[in-house]
Amino acid sequence: MAAASTPARSSAHLSQPVRVVLRVRPFLSSEAASATAPCVSLLGCHPGGGVTVQLKDQHTSRSEQYKLDAFFRQEDSVSQIFDQEVRAVIPSIFEGINATVFAYGATGSGKTYTMQGTEDFPGLIPLAASTILALCTGTWCSVEISYYEVYMERCYDLLEPKAKEIMALDDKDGNMQLKGLSWVPVRSMEEFQELYSIGVQRRKVAHTGLNDVSSRSHAVLSLRVSSTDVVKGKLNLIDLAGSEDNKRTLNEGIRLQESSKINQSLFALSNVISALNKNEHRIPYRQSKLTRLLRDSLGGGCRTVMIACLNPAEYQESANTVSLAARSCHIENFTSSSKQETPKLKIDMEAKLRAWLESKGKTKSIQRMDGLFSPIASKTPLSVSHMKQPTSSRIPCRVKAMDQDGGKIKKILFDPVVHVPTENIPREHRQTEVNTPKKVVLPSVTPCNEKHEASLRKALSPISSNMVPVEQQIPDNGNCPVLLEPQTPIEKRNIVEETPGATPLERFNALGSNLKEALVQQYLDLLNVANKEELQQLKGIGARRAEYILELREDSPKPFKTLEDLGNIGLSSKQIRDILKKTATGIFK
Ligand SMILES: Nc1ncnc2c1ncn2[C@@H]1O[C@H](COP(=O)(O)OP(=O)(O)O)[C@@H](O)[C@H]1O
Ligand SMILES: [Mg+2]
Repeated sequence: MAAASTPARSSAHLSQPVRVVLRVRPFLSSEAASATAPCVSLLGCHPGGGVTVQLKDQHTSRSEQYKLDAFFRQEDSVSQIFDQEVRAVIPSIFEGINATVFAYGATGSGKTYTMQGTEDFPGLIPLAASTILALCTGTWCSVEISYYEVYMERCYDLLEPKAKEIMALDDKDGNMQLKGLSWVPVRSMEEFQELYSIGVQRRKVAHTGLNDVSSRSHAVLSLRVSSTDVVKGKLNLIDLAGSEDNKRTLNEGIRLQESSKINQSLFALSNVISALNKNEHRIPYRQSKLTRLLRDSLGGGCRTVMIACLNPAEYQESANTVSLAARSCHIENFTSSSKQETPKLKIDMEAKLRAWLESKGKTKSIQRMDGLFSPIASKTPLSVSHMKQPTSSRIPCRVKAMDQDGGKIKKILFDPVVHVPTENIPREHRQTEVNTPKKVVLPSVTPCNEKHEASLRKALSPISSNMVPVEQQIPDNGNCPVLLEPQTPIEKRNIVEETPGATPLERFNALGSNLKEALVQQYLDLLNVANKEELQQLKGIGARRAEYILELREDSPKPFKTLEDLGNIGLSSKQIRDILKKTATGIFK
């Protein structure tokens, strides 16, 4: 059965900055015994583009719905994903338009399988390399590759390992470049496979000797096309590090640090994609090394495909992945729960806050989140984080990563068939006319049947009044909101002037409120202008936070407009309250 999606790379598809698609892998033999149905399924596809998927927890019958661009089922092959999502971006590279495809998801969800593939089923990387090389045949175009990984915010060359990390420096256009990264020419699939296999092997044992480093680093393979020595464009194919829920995996020590960095950079990536899809003026590239490195290939006319990979046996993990993917998607999103009307606001903000705190390694704060959310939690007993799950679903059913043997992939894809019609290459790059290539037949798109449409109509019917579309809940800057106590209502603020008949007590209270507001404003102003030394003298702002504040200011001159913006520097609502209380108390000392 064909995958459900919008028509493959329609013109709308190409004009969209980032496509966000889902892929659920088949059950592994080790999971088959306990598996019933996958935790995610397609509900329907929209005539105007996009699909609605449902996530369902077998144990609690909790369910949520999300809208995304396309859905690839367990039986859909990687070559279908390639045909529908990746093939069409390749000709643009020859026109100088960069593109990025990345696989996102938890460890064991099928990212490496999707990007790298196996001997018998090549992944997107060899499929793309083969297509690009085929397009170069008979033209003046040449291809070079680079392959590096980002581990703990440091970069390592996988093609020519150097003793140290490779330095990342900003060029004059503000794009980050890796100094000394090797770019190796490849002329055939044999050459490509040779190099790529070596890089894959190195990734497994790179620099720490830990076994499972491969799933804890982002691996970026880039294919760069040049014509008569002038670089045209490049395609980045990225196997992202597995996202992790520290609360569930009980990570400690180095594992916790690694996963904090991973979650932080994945969250930063999601912020960038979300900002691009919302056409925002400010794209927060500076939030992580990876987004800084990809700046020239994300946004600004570049094509991007995010493939969110799901393990069919892991509901909670999949829900986290889809929630992050959906907030990156351009489609206005919503969820609905079949069990109760838990506002999406809470689920999404909680997920965001959790991701942010985790990225800062604030496990204590995470544990305290239950307290932060308690007013809502008590009313919504089935909300994601407060729901008691049966033991079986709480124990992480980790699937050992595939750990592809680099040598095995060599055999794949030497198929001389030209996968993309040469007429897609701009004429100036063609050396001579080649034989008419085989025409590409793209898999047909699943028609939306009546049942799907009916359930879709149901899904799209007005959501109960306490459910607000997710998009409205996310601050413009895409950063994690801090949950503060409700702010002093505006009406109260100027009660002294506005209510001449106010009682003395009301006037006194209003004064207190005005003082509080003035204090907050002064504090925010100070964060917006103070230098590093001054910042460090403030309570709660250490050296690292001060540096981060200066970085935020580079992106936006006044990053702190409200107290909630302090969430961007990892302060919890309690910390903010404490800081202000201490500052206020200090006045009377
Ligand atoms: N489409 C698929 N068909 C068959 N097996 C798959 C598929 N996708 C993933 N797998 C298997 O699932 C396991 C986990 O996949 P892997 O790609 O290693 O996950 P990740 O890279 O996300 O940690 C591996 O054993 C892999 O072979
Ligand atoms: Mg992997």
